[in-house]
Amino acid sequence: MENFEQLKTVKFYSGEVTPLEMHKVRVVQKLNLLPVEQRKESIYGAGFNTFLLQNKDVYLDMLTDSGTNAMSDNQVAAMSVADDSYAGSASYTKLEKAIQDVFNQKYYLPVHQGRAAEHIIAKTFCRPGTVVPMNYHFTTTKAHIEMMGSAVDEIYTEEALKTKSSFPFKGNMDIDKLKKVIEKWGAENVAYIRFEAGTNLIGGQPFSMANLREVSAIAKAHNILLLMDTSLINENLYFIKTREEGYQNKPIKAILHEMMSYTDFSYFSGRKVSCTRGGGICTNIHDIYMKMRDWVPLFEGFLTYGGMSVREIEAMAVGLYETLDFDVISHSPSFIKYLVEALDSKGIPVITPSGGLGCHLNAGMFIPHVPQTQYPAGALAAALYIASGIRGMERGTISSVRDENGNDVLSDIELLRLAFPRRVFTLSQIKYAEDRIQWLFDNRHLIGGLEWVEEPPVLRFFVGKLKPIGDWVEKLVAKFREDFGDSL
Ligand code: F0G
Repeated sequence: MENFEQLKTVKFYSGEVTPLEMHKVRVVQKLNLLPVEQRKESIYGAGFNTFLLQNKDVYLDMLTDSGTNAMSDNQVAAMSVADDSYAGSASYTKLEKAIQDVFNQKYYLPVHQGRAAEHIIAKTFCRPGTVVPMNYHFTTTKAHIEMMGSAVDEIYTEEALKTKSSFPFKGNMDIDKLKKVIEKWGAENVAYIRFEAGTNLIGGQPFSMANLREVSAIAKAHNILLLMDTSLINENLYFIKTREEGYQNKPIKAILHEMMSYTDFSYFSGRKVSCTRGGGICTNIHDIYMKMRDWVPLFEGFLTYGGMSVREIEAMAVGLYETLDFDVISHSPSFIKYLVEALDSKGIPVITPSGGLGCHLNAGMFIPHVPQTQYPAGALAAALYIASGIRGMERGTISSVRDENGNDVLSDIELLRLAFPRRVFTLSQIKYAEDRIQWLFDNRHLIGGLEWVEEPPVLRFFVGKLKPIGDWVEKLVAKFREDFGDSL
């Protein structure tokens, strides 16, 4: 029996509503919080690009939730009993069993991380003249599909890109758009329909079971395969259980099995879902398994490890079972909700409703005086690091590209993503983030734009270097000292 008590929010005697950690910390990693002057030096050294900061100079690393989650004691213990062998490892058998129990999927292909699954799936099912409709793309997903010559068509609902909303399932697909795409391309030219759980790039937003059921019925009626990206399934499960009518009293496992019953195959990044590394492709359809099987030894490694270490395989098996524990999957979304609602209540522009994955600051509204050509999301990421030592990820025009005339393709929306690695930060650390974001918001007029110093032609956001336009950084640091005195 599950403990449904945890569905209720814990209320403090004072009346305050606060999320509670349902775990205790038994292994710790020391953090540094540099003085503001040194943070300024570090961000100059990193070319105002948070990807280029050294982790030792970062207080809270909110760049991503990928490969940075905390493992449980049981996961760490499992790593020490791993069975080292290239073929037929007992650790692999445990993982296969976990995939069957947790996902209710018979066949499993191991890969070294999520994008490796995307590579094999795209290689098998995509070709020129075909399309992959999806609720929203993820960067690596789109790149693999397009590399194989297929087109990507995003069929999100009109709620999806609204920054301020109370719509609980912004990850839903627009059913009319789906029907139109199938009509336009012909069902035989739809390589597969891709549904991404906990839709990353629109703010970790879930889809509903009702929407999945409807999409599945359409796919079946047209004989089109339905693929689910389950990398962020934990939080999508949490949101179906807590937000969707009729699911409050259903065990997580039953909800997950129902989701899987609507899909033909799925894949995941173990860097997210199981708090490990690695990943995999799962299906109950033998033919789909056989179509992809032989690529695994060629690109990833033999079928019983797929590029993963046996220790990660052991930890993954345990981690997958733990996704069925409500305490485990509720931690991240309830902490994110806390920060999003705290900021929103102060008029600080954040994406609402809160999702999984992280808190997304709307940089375009935070610093509207900085034009998109001067990269507000990048400038806000640098300013937040200077103000707090917190590292977020730019998700705006720097992450975009230039057109054939060399002009920036301006992003739909300028976001600063503050990811919440699962079970990593305490509430006082989140309160610290809230405090420094508030200070930055009150002093937002001081924040200026950025310009390029070194701009790589491809994926410029990873290693490109920029510098501030004017002396706004000096002014920000001076104001910090004025307001905080000797404080770090
Ligand atoms: N699908 C989704 C929804 C993802 O968020 C990611 C990775 C992948 C696939 C690829 O998996 O990294 O294991 O190869 N997201 C990370 C992020 C990189 O920071 O959001 P991977």
